[in-house]
Amino acid sequence: MKIYLATGNKGKVEELIPLVKKYIPLVSEVVAQAPKDADEVEETFLGNARIKSYALLKEILDSNPVFPFYVLSDDSGLEVETLEKKPGVHSARYAGDHVSAEAHIEKLLTEMQGKTDRSCRYVCALNLLRVYSRIDVKEFSSEGYCEGEILLEAKGSGGFGYDPIFWVPSLQKRMSEATLAEKNSLSHRQRAFENFSFEF
Ligand code: IMP
Repeated sequence: MKIYLATGNKGKVEELIPLVKKYIPLVSEVVAQAPKDADEVEETFLGNARIKSYALLKEILDSNPVFPFYVLSDDSGLEVETLEKKPGVHSARYAGDHVSAEAHIEKLLTEMQGKTDRSCRYVCALNLLRVYSRIDVKEFSSEGYCEGEILLEAKGSGGFGYDPIFWVPSLQKRMSEATLAEKNSLSHRQRAFENFSFEF
C-alpha cells in the first residue's frame, strides 16, 4: 500500500522512512509530498498535523488516485521549560520564515543566556489517514516525546533542526552526534509510532 508523507523536510523524511517500514508493514511505496496549501495556524502539534494531512489528502483526491493509500503527517518541535515551552509549534519559524536552522539555534541560545534550567523536550504528533475510498477515510493520531537539555553551543552535523544543541542524557551525546539508528531508537518520532494504535 502506498503512503504519502505530508512533508518536504528532508531530515524528517530520512527518519520517517525506516519508522514507517517498521511500524506499518503493509506499506510498499513511500512518497514524500509537501502539501501546497497548509497554513499551520493551530496552537497544538496535533492540530497542525491534521491540517497537513487533510490538505495533502485533498490534493491527492483531486489527482484521481489509486485506492487504498495512507497519508501521514508529522508536526513536531522543541519545548524549552524555562521559556514557557517556546519555540513549541513555532519551532520551524522561530527566528523567521525561510531562515536557516543556525538562525533558529542562535535566537534560542540568546534567549537561554543566564538560564540555569536547561531542560527541554522534543514533541512529535503523528496523524495517519487510512484512505480506502473517497468516502472511507479513517483517522489515527499519536504523540511522542524525547527529553533532553539545551547545550551552550552548537556542534555536530547529524540530524536536523535543533539537534546540534540538544543533549540526550541516555546516549551521553548530542542528537547531532547520534547515528540515524540511535536517534530512531529513542526520538519523539519513534515514540509517537510506538504509541500509535491503528488498524491497517
Ligand atoms: P514542522 O515541519 O512544522 O513540524 O516543524 C518542525 C520543526 O521542529 C523543525 O523545522 C525543527 O526546527 C524542529 N524539529 C522537529 N523535530 C526535530 C528533530 O528531530 N530534531 C531537531 N529539530 C526538530
